[in-house]
Amino acid sequence: MASKLLVDIHTHVYLPRYAALLRSRSAVPFIRSSATHDGKLDERLLILDHEPSGGRPVGPQYWDREEKLKFMDKHGIDVSVVSTANPWLDFLPASQAHTLAAELNEDLEEYCSTSPNVQDVPIRRLYGFGLLPLVPEITTASLLDTVKQVSKLPHLRGLIMGTRGVGKGLDDMALDPIWAAIEAAGLVVFIHPHYGVDAKAWGDMDNGHVLPLALGFPFETTIATTRLILSGVLDRFPSLRLLLAHSGGTLPQLSSRLASCIDHDPVVASRLKHDARYYLGKLYVDAVAYGPEELGFVSDVIARSGRYEAGTSDFKAANRSLGSQRMLFGTDHPFFPPLSSTEKWKSVVENSEAIDAVQGWSQADKDGVRGGNAISLFNLAE
Ligand code: URA
Ligand code: ZN
Repeated sequence: MASKLLVDIHTHVYLPRYAALLRSRSAVPFIRSSATHDGKLDERLLILDHEPSGGRPVGPQYWDREEKLKFMDKHGIDVSVVSTANPWLDFLPASQAHTLAAELNEDLEEYCSTSPNVQDVPIRRLYGFGLLPLVPEITTASLLDTVKQVSKLPHLRGLIMGTRGVGKGLDDMALDPIWAAIEAAGLVVFIHPHYGVDAKAWGDMDNGHVLPLALGFPFETTIATTRLILSGVLDRFPSLRLLLAHSGGTLPQLSSRLASCIDHDPVVASRLKHDARYYLGKLYVDAVAYGPEELGFVSDVIARSGRYEAGTSDFKAANRSLGSQRMLFGTDHPFFPPLSSTEKWKSVVENSEAIDAVQGWSQADKDGVRGGNAISLFNLAE
């Protein structure tokens, strides 16, 4: 039954063409290859500006489709909506970014379209988010051309985007024609972090990847999405479907404070059509938060948005069920692999168990978060 499927909407790949580019480079982002003392190939991924501890070990699970399917089988994941991992094309000159975006979108379409079907259901096991050449100096025509390309590739149902836009962030008015085209094409935009915040904030102690990933990533998403909201993107493009990584970062926790700061600021107060909390209910978020209390809280905040719908007296009570309908299971595979050999990945099991344990979510809500919401959002049953 399609409504019972487990769908992973936050799962990444470095397609072979992209991995080859990273191997050809010697500055971040790159893959450094060396031989171990027993003659094996040791590959490390260095993608962050202040990459701690010599990079992260990488292997076939980062690029090989068979490994993705094996991982899905091991964790009972029926369908994955796969995206290229960070930092996408951000570091390339415009012409190369445009060409590579087109090639990688075709590669990902092939990766998905030749995947098997879910047993007894006319849905493939793999769908994808395409890439746009979002780099400084790119022309609007090139971006629109790529939106058109992705909208015509049948297994690509959205676009993954970092937070820089074409160099000035997601509140850049130059992106308006792109938002319009994405909205018209019905593609879902997955907003995903890469840069974190200023590394000086992390101090001198060696904390590995903990601070950039646990805090820097969600703070980046919070700032980028808040700027997008403040610039009125969701007023101008009310049907745009944005999906935020890592359960929206810290935006749910800070949305009433944001609303209050707006109310007290003459520069912004008159610019937006709605109370800031209204926009939270326009977003979709992944359920990659690792804890049931966090998921429950985020669903409350999303549901509360109904209270701030302008022009209606329909004061929907905060209702976790309603909020759950905008939340979607994810794993962040192939990142966060177990440090020692285990049958299942802890990062996956935790996210799955968290959904099961949310107080106030019915079985139907949990099934929705596990996969039903993704089937609707990405039209997977078509
Ligand atoms: N680390 C990354 O660099 N990207 C992710 O998506 C997750 C962890
Ligand atoms: Zn991710």
